[in-house]
Amino acid sequence: MKAVEIKKNIYWVGTIDWDLREFHGYLTQRGTTYNAYLIVDEKIVLVDTTRNYLTKEMLLRISSIIDPSKIDYIISNHSEMDHSGALPEMMKVCKNATLLCSPNGEKNLKRHFDARDWNIKIVDNTTKINIGRRELNFVLTQMVHWPDSMATYIPQDKLLLPNDAFGQHIASHERYADEIGFDVVFEEAKKYYANIVMPYASSVNNALNQIDKLDIEMIAPSHGLIWRNEVSRILDGYKKWDSDQTLNKAVIIYDTMWGSTKLIAKAIYEAFDDKNVTVLLRCLKTDHISDIMKDIIDAKYICIGSPTLNGTTLPSVAAFLCYMKGLRPKKRVGLSFGSFGWAGQSTKEIDEIFKVLDFEIWDSIKIEYVPQELFLEKIAQDIKNKLI
Ligand code: FEO
Repeated sequence: MKAVEIKKNIYWVGTIDWDLREFHGYLTQRGTTYNAYLIVDEKIVLVDTTRNYLTKEMLLRISSIIDPSKIDYIISNHSEMDHSGALPEMMKVCKNATLLCSPNGEKNLKRHFDARDWNIKIVDNTTKINIGRRELNFVLTQMVHWPDSMATYIPQDKLLLPNDAFGQHIASHERYADEIGFDVVFEEAKKYYANIVMPYASSVNNALNQIDKLDIEMIAPSHGLIWRNEVSRILDGYKKWDSDQTLNKAVIIYDTMWGSTKLIAKAIYEAFDDKNVTVLLRCLKTDHISDIMKDIIDAKYICIGSPTLNGTTLPSVAAFLCYMKGLRPKKRVGLSFGSFGWAGQSTKEIDEIFKVLDFEIWDSIKIEYVPQELFLEKIAQDIKNKLI
């Protein structure tokens, strides 16, 4: 297990979770990493840890550089257990280590673990800790995405260690975004933002304002690849996503029982396509809700369709609505549609979610049983008229 030197005497000592395919509802097709970083100076510092089942892997990487018992400080930028899971073991191994965390970090860690014997020092935006040639600085990034979240900044190396922010779920042998390709890593960062960070847009804005004041040459997040040549591009991506700017883009999300709702979805697709709006068709039988959230992050039009089943939407559509409601996209136009047999409540339920999210709501499209060609032509024309 090799460590990777990312700056002089600063090493990636994280772990690679090649098999992970689910992360509290998020489909992680590419697996993930839990990035920990070791700073070797007059004092030795470990920044974040890993999930508990990969503790040995991390310890082997640390041991390839130094004896882990010599670690002086362990920084917990975030108490969620993908980064703190190894802390109980590490606090035993590193007997003399001081644990550095935010005020909420201390509270959270004590609610996760038996931390009675841990030497904890609380840090905040004003704290500076000299470790020899370097100084540790901290930026509290509360609610990006937990109350305890913070970033560690090392001015001498122009290195930002922001934990979850700017991360991506990618398991790889490579450590840098440019080694895999910016577009791939950026798409995964966008998915990460859409599924983890999006509900906390105002907190992201605060964090970005603080980070903008720093001189940054490298951003090393706690998941996925490190940004070294593309720092301004990933910062710009976060600023764009955080601002809820949308493109002239529509995403049509639906499920279908006997194909009628799918026919409506395709008619809606044709209408947007005819008006040169970028349009994506996503069927909930085949597309995962976490991938769809990435698609809608910059879409102005969100069209959701479900037939009525037992007086409500299909369960797949209900699950998507629940997920989207929690992630809170803003400033969109919503269009509900669906076929029905006798009552037709599905579109009302979809519109209820659009209302909660404060979308501009277009009149829903409903058809009893099977839509005929004339009906499909009419709804396509109606949408085109709205887009003029
Ligand atoms: Fe990667 Fe919020 O934990």
